[in-house]
Amino acid sequence: MKKVRLGLIGMGMIGKLHAETMSKMKDIEFVAASDADAKHQKTATELGTKFYQSYKEMIGKDTLDGVVIAVPNELHLPVGATCAKKGLNILMEKPIAADLESADRLIQAAKENKVILMVGHHRRHNPMIEELRRIVRGGEIGKLVGVTVLWSLYKPKDYFKGPFAWRAQPGGGPIRINLIHEIDNIRYICGDITRLYAEVSHEARKFPVEDTVSISLRIAGGAVANIFLTDTAPGNVGYEANTGENLFFYQSPQNCYYYYGTEGVVTFPGMKKFFYRDPAKAGWQYALCEEGIKIDREDPYTRQIRNFCGVIQGTEKPKIDGVDARKTLEVALAIQKSGETGQAIVFG
Ligand SMILES: NC(=O)c1ccc[n+]([C@@H]2O[C@H](COP(=O)([O-])OP(=O)(O)OC[C@H]3O[C@@H](n4cnc5c(N)ncnc54)[C@H](O)[C@@H]3O)[C@@H](O)[C@H]2O)c1
Repeated sequence: MKKVRLGLIGMGMIGKLHAETMSKMKDIEFVAASDADAKHQKTATELGTKFYQSYKEMIGKDTLDGVVIAVPNELHLPVGATCAKKGLNILMEKPIAADLESADRLIQAAKENKVILMVGHHRRHNPMIEELRRIVRGGEIGKLVGVTVLWSLYKPKDYFKGPFAWRAQPGGGPIRINLIHEIDNIRYICGDITRLYAEVSHEARKFPVEDTVSISLRIAGGAVANIFLTDTAPGNVGYEANTGENLFFYQSPQNCYYYYGTEGVVTFPGMKKFFYRDPAKAGWQYALCEEGIKIDREDPYTRQIRNFCGVIQGTEKPKIDGVDARKTLEVALAIQKSGETGQAIVFG
């Protein structure tokens, strides 16, 4: 089969990872990369791909099958719609867009121009997440009753400085940038979220965006969940610090998720299952059995690009398309709204 020809728009924190990933994949052609900041030319050259400062020039000059877009959230719609008009298939970084109206316009642009719109909720491509989904949905821990999620990682001051100031402004913030991944994981593993209540604080950093969030939510099927997130306290519990998925983050062997069912509990990413072997000896006075869950690890960013190429070639379905990603964004924005109004939000 002909190699899929891909371009990249945005070579910042995550764009650089996509560039490195694509440059290592023998079964695709990483044709070109672009970034408004010329300093990224060096990385492009090192990775053996062409560089453009203007993405419009890149998509005008090069023949591409698709683009990976990793620009600030507010630019997802304008950059995405321009690429769609050019007939290019899109892997858009998450969130799909900065707000729901922009998400709808982007979905519409993809539809009108008959291009694929896939969204970079890359965790869905992690074999550990796929296995957790299989265990929960397959009833291996009985009926799911609850989930706890902890994300506590400290963002350094530089994270918000200079060209990165967007991260501290409306449209950025840890709900859209980080928490949205947790929402998407819960949706992917368990099902849709039906109701939530959130306490949202920006007391520590005093930015226009939040720094600390606590959420209670209900999942279709009746399970409940809680999520605590802060980016302002020294912490080592959080998906990025615990899964080894992206070694930019200092790694610590902790569990950031617990999935509780009527017949057992699974820890993540420890991937251990706890349960009572003998139903006659089930109770808090008895010891639990512990079983490791075997996983073949594989890089989710590589799998994500492979899935994007498979969708372009018509051999695969996207793990997450624009419509699905919009639902994840809707929940993330509802968390913000609940924090502002002090009201619970119910989804229809
Ligand atoms: N999937 C993940 O794990 C993950 C992780 C981090 C960020 N993200 C998402 O990726 C996106 C980028 O985040 P980031 O932290 O890498 O941001 P960043 O600020 O580090 O990088 C953004 C890059 O886009 C470039 N850019 C801005 N306007 C441009 C334009 N018009 N044309 C070309 N390049 C342009 C900037 O120069 C910068 O290099 C955001 O949507 C964010 O939510 C996803």
